Amino acid sequence: MKDAPGNLATLADLEALASRKLNAATLAYFNGGAADEITLRDNIAAWQRLKLSARVLRPMGGGHTRVSLLGHTLAHPILVAPMAHQRLAHPQGERGTALAAAAQGAGLVLSAQSSTLLEDVSRLVRDEADRGPLWLQLYLQHDRTFIRELAQRAEAAGYEALVLTVDAPVSGVRDRERRTGFTLPPGFSPVNLAGRELPPPVALQPGQSALFDDLLTHAPTWDDVAWLRSITRLPVLLKGITHPADALLALEHGAAGVIVSNHGGRTLDTLPATAELLPPVVQAVDGRIPVLVDGGIRRGTDVLKAMALGASAVLVGRPVIHGLANAGAQGVAHVLRLLRDELEIAMALCGCRQLNEAASVLHRPPTT
Ligand code: FNR
Ligand code: LAC
Repeated sequence: MKDAPGNLATLADLEALASRKLNAATLAYFNGGAADEITLRDNIAAWQRLKLSARVLRPMGGGHTRVSLLGHTLAHPILVAPMAHQRLAHPQGERGTALAAAAQGAGLVLSAQSSTLLEDVSRLVRDEADRGPLWLQLYLQHDRTFIRELAQRAEAAGYEALVLTVDAPVSGVRDRERRTGFTLPPGFSPVNLAGRELPPPVALQPGQSALFDDLLTHAPTWDDVAWLRSITRLPVLLKGITHPADALLALEHGAAGVIVSNHGGRTLDTLPATAELLPPVVQAVDGRIPVLVDGGIRRGTDVLKAMALGASAVLVGRPVIHGLANAGAQGVAHVLRLLRDELEIAMALCGCRQLNEAASVLHRPPTT
């Protein structure tokens, strides 16, 4: 028998509802990935492929989902991933997402390309006692004076860390967006970035590349990570680390943490799923800084599996947009609550009382 419409039990149900609320071009922007979307699909499939192991009859009273991250105790390890232009999903935009995250004790990483001023977001939630971490994501742009000011604004507004995204010096091949003709509608702009200076135009010689001889000549390198650290008191995490050697470079350059991410399959298609990328990074980092992960997390069991593979916390992207599109802050709170509840149930049924014991919940076939 088919479920009655309106019964929204899972993040997939909420995604289906959101797909009826948003127009095709907006959906292509939010849900789409790069090129053939192999990484996009595999992010989800790889968590599903991992299997859990259940231990029974253990005393489970007093279990909890708390974790510690960068010196703070969090109610649970779920953060909202930075996602641009959230007012496209719902008029509440980033305000709705922030209120819901705070109400659910989830961390919030605000995108530098948010459609709401970073000060307005922090004013809403910074004094909420039970909120999770409040971080600002940014890209390093050409205008370093502007970045310095942005970092100062983040500090003044109460953001507790900067997340430097390093995996998208150029946008991926977004075929779904091009097919639907997605463009930002009038009135939408990355308001936090207003006033930044764009690099002077380059007169390309015949045979030169607009990418290599123009755009990428301004792209940041490892030295710029050191520069960013030097101009802020805030810890700097690097988002978009996929290679263990880059994780070690991140450590060397003073990153306070790394986020294993393939940008939700939106940048380089056919990168492996993050469930596969995570273990070698965890091994290389060896507990010296936190390793977070995002991409394809849609179930509480996925959160538990990520923790089992050594993540310190997880970020959730598109499901938050779906919740926002469905019902603003309430819709986002619904998504986060479902994930939290599913995580608790998964822990209970695996016999895992706390997440620092999560390593043992993965089913490992006897021959490895
Ligand atoms: C993103 N992501 C992203 N990342 C970032 O560092 N800065 C940004 O502004 C954005 N913007 C953005 C917009 C949209 C619509 C999406 C879906 C994603 C990537 C995001 O932070 C995260 O890495 C992925 O979304 C995680 O994958 P899932 O949970 O969406 O599968
Ligand atoms: C994206 C950019 C904004 O993935 O990071 O859409």
